[in-house]
Amino acid sequence: MGENFVLMLLLVASLVQILVAAPTYNPRQLSLPSQLNPYPTKPRLSFRPDGTFKITVFSDLHFGENAWDVWGPQQDVNSTRLMRKVLADEKPDYVFINGDLITGENTFRENSTVYIDEIVAPLNDVKVPFSSTHGNHDNQANITHLEEILREQRDAPLSYTRVAPPGVGGEYGPGNYWVPVNFQPALIIWAFDSRGGWSEGQGSAPLPDWVDDSVATWIEQETALMDSVWGPPDKTRGALAFVHIPP
Ligand SMILES: *[C@@H]1O[C@H](CO)[C@@H](O)[C@H](O)[C@H]1NC(C)=O
Ligand SMILES: *[C@@H]1O[C@H](CO)[C@@H](O)[C@H](O)[C@H]1NC(C)=O
Ligand SMILES: *[C@@H]1O[C@H](CO)[C@@H](O)[C@H](O)[C@H]1NC(C)=O
Repeated sequence: MGENFVLMLLLVASLVQILVAAPTYNPRQLSLPSQLNPYPTKPRLSFRPDGTFKITVFSDLHFGENAWDVWGPQQDVNSTRLMRKVLADEKPDYVFINGDLITGENTFRENSTVYIDEIVAPLNDVKVPFSSTHGNHDNQANITHLEEILREQRDAPLSYTRVAPPGVGGEYGPGNYWVPVNFQPALIIWAFDSRGGWSEGQGSAPLPDWVDDSVATWIEQETALMDSVWGPPDKTRGALAFVHIPP
């Protein structure tokens, strides 16, 4: 009896110790669900000391157009040169590529995503974090949004483009994700996949060119989780959204 009592006291004492020790850590940081920490291995994006965060947007780059004509590849060389010039002049904190990266209907099955390498090269060289949405020209008989995303993730260490959880985005619309800026985010950059274009393969058929309904439910779930952990957005958390085909 007496031994048990001592044991119990010891147990209580060690519990108290744990409870007392806990507040020295940031409990929010410890309990952050993995969904709210989507880039554990990538650099944390943050505002500059002066409170700014500069985003450069490239849209409709259309690489791979008329690959069989002289002007097609020349156009891509020119686009890459322009990207390098803009990046050097602007020195953005983040780059967003807002759809139609590739003229998919001009691509060949065996090498359709090779143009992603050309597009990410200037971004890799200046080591700027970036991500992309995809457009109606990125879903075609010989190419899909998903293929472009996987190629980008493979070739660009600072790509923040993600694939939505299973069941979110509808067929051919996997590119729905968000990117936090600052740890307790001051800004959430949302990306929505408006699908469009054509399904892949022979018998290719037109696709709906709007964001799938399932994305709305996902947004509600994600923001409810953000609010429960980070508190209500109020004036402390802004949002910015990119989508190729506006609603
Ligand atoms: C590429 O840029 C060069 C130099 O500015 C220009 O002469 C040429 O017409 C451009 N080519 C295309 C296909 O836009
Ligand atoms: C798709 O790629 C194949 C194989 O390279 C090619 O023969 C075909 O013309 C392409 N289809 C379209 C619609 O561009
Ligand atoms: C892609 O493949 C086609 C047909 O096989 C070829 O003509 C073209 O040059 C290739 N494009 C690139 C960028 O390698």
